[in-house]
Formats: sequence, structure tokens, C-alpha cells
Amino acid sequence: MSDWPSHGGRPEQLLPRFGLAGDSEVIDFSANLNPLGPPPWLAQRLAACVTELAVYPDPDYCEARDAIAMSEGLGPKQVRLTNGGAEAIFLAAALLARQGVRRAAIVQPTFGEYERACRHYGIAVEHVELAPGSFALDEARADEAMRDAGALFLCRPNNPTGTLIERGVVERLLATGRSHGAMLVVDEAFVDFVTPDERLTPLLARFDNLLLLRSMTKLYAIPGLRLGYLLGSAAAVNAIAELQPPWSVNALAAGLVAPLLADRDYLARTRAWLDAERPWLQGELAALGLDVVPSHANFLLFRDARLQDARGGSMPALLEHLARGGILVRHTHHFIGLEGAWLRVAVRSRPENRALVEAIARWRHP
Ligand SMILES: Cc1ncc(COP(=O)(O)O)c(C=O)c1O
Repeated sequence: MSDWPSHGGRPEQLLPRFGLAGDSEVIDFSANLNPLGPPPWLAQRLAACVTELAVYPDPDYCEARDAIAMSEGLGPKQVRLTNGGAEAIFLAAALLARQGVRRAAIVQPTFGEYERACRHYGIAVEHVELAPGSFALDEARADEAMRDAGALFLCRPNNPTGTLIERGVVERLLATGRSHGAMLVVDEAFVDFVTPDERLTPLLARFDNLLLLRSMTKLYAIPGLRLGYLLGSAAAVNAIAELQPPWSVNALAAGLVAPLLADRDYLARTRAWLDAERPWLQGELAALGLDVVPSHANFLLFRDARLQDARGGSMPALLEHLARGGILVRHTHHFIGLEGAWLRVAVRSRPENRALVEAIARWRHP
């Protein structure tokens, strides 16, 4: 199954599998981006800042860093701006390698880049698998991994399940890690879509073995611009700064951080959309008899056990049916424990979500 594209959001890589033109018009549910699109002021601001491209950016991105520190209630020394959440993941792995970590555990199924980053830095990987179907964490197993490996990666809320490991569990893992010299790396790329009190930022005051990875590309729908950051102890962030290539974030992206964080209206509109649309889509998919994982994020994972039984069909077949109808969803072939038996869809606007539901209904009842 390795010839399936490893990330969503690339119709030109997926559609030709089905003999469809790569540039066909599709509704893209395969990348988990805010369907509100970038804030309306963004294009104009970028155009106005083009002159900044003529000079090198501040290598420490102090203005952006301070804006993040302020909004997170942290000191500036605990923040490092990165070229998307992806760079934050690779920097976290680089730090672990620098600290001598030889083996890391990853809570699976999850985003594939933690494993790639670890392997890139020569760190062996073991997996802590969530329970099939419920995707609950076996806390004893995770605790064991925290004792045995030098680090544990987990994603919260988790891509692709949308599940959220309880904060109390995270705290216990951190305590175990502290007494065994292990780091906990939590990717909070989708935390902006969860209620604010679920952010783990306050735990940084108590645990210096915690690293938090953030992305700004999902919430603000700017994956092409690349913007993320990393939060940790001042010592860890300082070590990470040493490992980061110089000027890895471009001036246009860095200059957007403060105004993006200040745009509370955009955040409120996003919350209003998601509060209405996620339960609606989840309910409609469940009403079609699909097995939908309750999600804390802006995407839903589902499968259709009945369909597989009754028609000998499969989720890849449903994916193809949807693609032929101009709807792109995310396959799960690369996710450990899912192996193509589930599909993931981003929550989008009501008309788009309705189009998805209707297309699945046509598949089920042709
Ligand atoms: C869980 C998770 N973390 C990080 C990233 C990387 O995001 P960015 O675009 O900020 O690099 C993604 C992208 O899909 C993701 O799903």
C-alpha cells in the first residue's frame, strides 16, 4: 500500500489512481484545514509586506516569539518559531538525538512524521497502539514505554482519530518520565479546534520534560505559508535554537504571527462553525450506519463494518466512489492499526458536508 500518497490534500497524487485527471475539480476533505479559509485581511497584508523580503528576518523572530509567549502566558525563552509544525517535529527529534536518546515510543495510529523524524536522527522507534475501534490509550503500556524509552510522542487531539488523551494521564506520564529521564513530546497541531482549557501549556510550569508542538497552518488555512512553533523549558528551547537552520521561517510568515493571534473574531467564527458542523456531520454519518469515532478535532474517522460484510466492499472502494463524484477523502493505508479500513474526513461547510453525506448515501443505497 506504500504507493498511496502519504499526506492528504494532494488531489493530483490520488486521482490518477482512478484514471481521473489530477487537476479535476474536487471538494477536498482529505486535508484538515479550516474551511473559512485564511482571514480576509491576510492577502492584503502579505502584499503590503513584500518589501520586507529585501532584508534578512530577525533570526530569533522576537516579535513573533513575544506574541506567542504573551498569548500562551509563557516567557519568551520558552518559545521557538518554526517552519510549520513539521519543522517542530524534526527539531524535537533532533533535540532527543542530541540528548543521547536512542529509542522513542509513539502512540499509534498517528501522524507519520514522528516516526520519520526519529529515524532521520537515528532514533529507533517502538509503538504504543491505541485499542482497536475505541482508540483508548492503555495507560499502563504507555507508562512502561515512558520508563523504557527515552521519549514518548503523542498527538493531542490525535490525527487521525480525533481522540484526546485525558490531561490526568498526560500528567502521570510526565511524572514517570521525570523520574526516568524521559521526555514527553505532545503534538498539539489541532489544539486550536478544541476548547481553550485543553491546551497543555500550563503543565510547562511543572514539567521541564514536556515539549509542545504547534501548527498555525490548520487553524488559519495557510499550509503553503508554513508556520508553527515549539514550546518547552527555556533550556530545551535554547538547545533547539542551536539545532535549527538559520532563518528557517520566511519574513512574510513570521510577520503574520502577531496579527493572526490578535484576530479573536476569526477564532470565534471558527468555533461557531465547528460547534455547529462537527456534531451535524458526525450525526449524519452515524445515521447512515457508519461507525464514527467521537472527535475533539476538526475531522472525523469512520468505517463501515456493514458495508464490508454485505458487499465485500471496503473503504478504499468507497474512497474511489467518492473521488469519482468529485469528493476527496483521506485514506488510512499508512496508519498503523487502521491499514485502509477507515476513512478520515475534514469537517467543512454545511453544503460541502451535505454533498459528502449524500454521496455516501448513494453508495450505500444505489
Ligand atoms: C498532527 C500533525 N502535526 C503536524 C502537522 C504539520 O503541520 P504543518 O503544516 O504546520 O507543518 C500535521 C499536518 O498534517 C499534522 O497532522
